[in-house]
Amino acid sequence: MKPVTVRVPAKVNLQLGVGPLRDDGYHDLVNVFHAVSLFDEVTAVPADAPSVTVEAAPDAQVAIQNVPLDGGNLAMRAARLLAERAGVEPNVELRIRKAIPVAGGMAGGSADAAAALLACARLWKADLLLPALPELGAEIGSDVPFALLGESAIGLGRGERLTPLETSGTFHWVFATADGGLSTPAVYAECDRLREARGERVPWPPAYDELAKALAAGDARALGAALANDLQPAALSLRPSLRRTLDAGRELGALGSLVSGSGPTTAFLAESAEHAAGLAAALAGAGVAKQVVRAYGPVPGATVV
Ligand code: C5P
Repeated sequence: MKPVTVRVPAKVNLQLGVGPLRDDGYHDLVNVFHAVSLFDEVTAVPADAPSVTVEAAPDAQVAIQNVPLDGGNLAMRAARLLAERAGVEPNVELRIRKAIPVAGGMAGGSADAAAALLACARLWKADLLLPALPELGAEIGSDVPFALLGESAIGLGRGERLTPLETSGTFHWVFATADGGLSTPAVYAECDRLREARGERVPWPPAYDELAKALAAGDARALGAALANDLQPAALSLRPSLRRTLDAGRELGALGSLVSGSGPTTAFLAESAEHAAGLAAALAGAGVAKQVVRAYGPVPGATVV
């Protein structure tokens, strides 16, 4: 058995419509996912017992100290679930190399889980389970099925019921990372709290046809105008300093800006690769981010390399 390495992308939510809280503790979503070219790599190595190691990718200043190395690691949970279904021992060393911010709202943990599922399925020659990976992934986290699929897609339900969205051309992004992560459950809870405090009725479900049209046409201006995230007020309430970062991006000419998922990473859409380079340099110079990185999308989901 030879080690298997899988490369897996981060995501940004182009529209994150958050519906009412359900009885199972999740929210119904209208979630437009877009996979971008920030990649983690997970290598599955045959071993005598399960273990996980994590390192930052050479050029990425990813703070890895908060990634759990025990049973709470999403990649290891995914490997154990797959082993159980495949009827094998979960004897694998998972080597995770991270470029996706940790707890940053870019689904890094879900990406690693998706990569572990694919890498272990190949390692254990569990080909019959390949079509079941999205379903297994959904048991680990709502964003895992999308990390397997990649490109652009709309996710309904808790985000796991996916339909691919047609996309033309390439969109150029700048991401600003922030110190420390935000807990996804805490951001959803803050969203509920703010809505209740303000007596907001959520119009549900939101339309997403303008966004879908902009994606299909490859129209960055229209896409920038259509970006929307219902979790943004909650992320800003928990992390008020993000307001400055969003304002700076807008003033520096981004076509659109928003908090990525539950944050605290912020995303800025540029007109072209050159515009993204200029915007990234200006944002870095403004001193409103921990780190500024460029990426493009859409890109494929988890892939064996
Ligand atoms: O599915 P995942 O483990 O990624 O979700 C993390 C947390 O985010 C959930 O426990 C829940 O608090 C919140 N969440 C939600 N509604 C969703 C997805 C996630 O409330 N559709």
